[in-house]
Amino acid sequence: MQAQIDQYTAEINAFSPANADELETFRIKFLGTKGIIKDLFEQFKTVGPEEKRTFGKVLNQFKQLAEAKYNELKETLDSGPKAKDLALDLTLPGEDFAVGSRHPLSLVRNEIIDIFKRLGFVVAEGPEIEDDWHNFSALNFPEEHPARDMQDTFFIKKNSGKDDIALRTHTSSVQVRMMEHGKPPFRAIMPGRVYRNEAISARAHCFFHQVEGLYVDENVSFADLKQTLYHFVQELYGEGTKVRFRPSYFPFTEPSAEMDVSCTICGGSGCNMCKYSGWVEILGCGMVDPNVLENCGIDSKKYTGFAFGMGMERIANLKYVIRDLRLFSENDVRFLKQFQTEIL
Ligand code: DAH
Repeated sequence: MQAQIDQYTAEINAFSPANADELETFRIKFLGTKGIIKDLFEQFKTVGPEEKRTFGKVLNQFKQLAEAKYNELKETLDSGPKAKDLALDLTLPGEDFAVGSRHPLSLVRNEIIDIFKRLGFVVAEGPEIEDDWHNFSALNFPEEHPARDMQDTFFIKKNSGKDDIALRTHTSSVQVRMMEHGKPPFRAIMPGRVYRNEAISARAHCFFHQVEGLYVDENVSFADLKQTLYHFVQELYGEGTKVRFRPSYFPFTEPSAEMDVSCTICGGSGCNMCKYSGWVEILGCGMVDPNVLENCGIDSKKYTGFAFGMGMERIANLKYVIRDLRLFSENDVRFLKQFQTEIL
């Protein structure tokens, strides 16, 4: 019996299955209900008391060896060669992950900021919930100005006019905050979201984005305004883009103008983007009205300034030929993923 057990022990120690089937055959052979160990225990019953003492221990050890071997091999096979290799193979590629893309409005905003930063402008921001003073009164809006109307403005609190609280209708309110809290010279651009009570369509939305610009110092003239905006357009849409200024009216600037650029889609020959005129309006601008400077505590005899405000969606429309304003806020990935991917 001892010789038999020694032989089986050697066999078990040397056993190395190639797959789960071989291990199962091993189990049936040694540990199965009709297996070798069962058989040895049957034989054990028939030996004399002297041998029982010696072999009882040997047999139990042998059984433990077979079970331990089986459990160990089973665990290795279960965890599988694949999982084992994965944990160790450092040459395998890492897991892929989806990279997002920049929103077109962020691309446009960053580009505008870059251009004006090179001209020495800083970036400033203000609150989206504004009081009447910063959104209207300080900007020289007359008491009965239609822009103050419920039709245009989302009021949060509407009382007597002076303590009205509303969602800002333009970023010009940030000009006021800037001038109230600092001393000239000011040279800043102010990007942000604005709100108007409009029915949503391809051409209008209840919220959109503007970039405001302000330059106040001694001796700032309309020539500075023209040259700054001309340079901006060359940088944004490329050398040779033409600009033209048309007289206009804003309560907070005098004189006021609107600036058109030669259509970036057709180059000025006429297309449906520029309604066959060859020109597209991109911003409003003007010399800061002395009343506005005084309202903000700035000496209008000493200082002059220019301001401008543009819609970011309009700039993006022209750059990427996006014809429906609603696309900007629908978060449709089929639309969004067409734009520049963030490089990590
Ligand atoms: N606030 C104007 C608007 O929302 C845009 C604008 C026009 C801003 C002329 C200015 C400006 O600073 O000078 O339509």
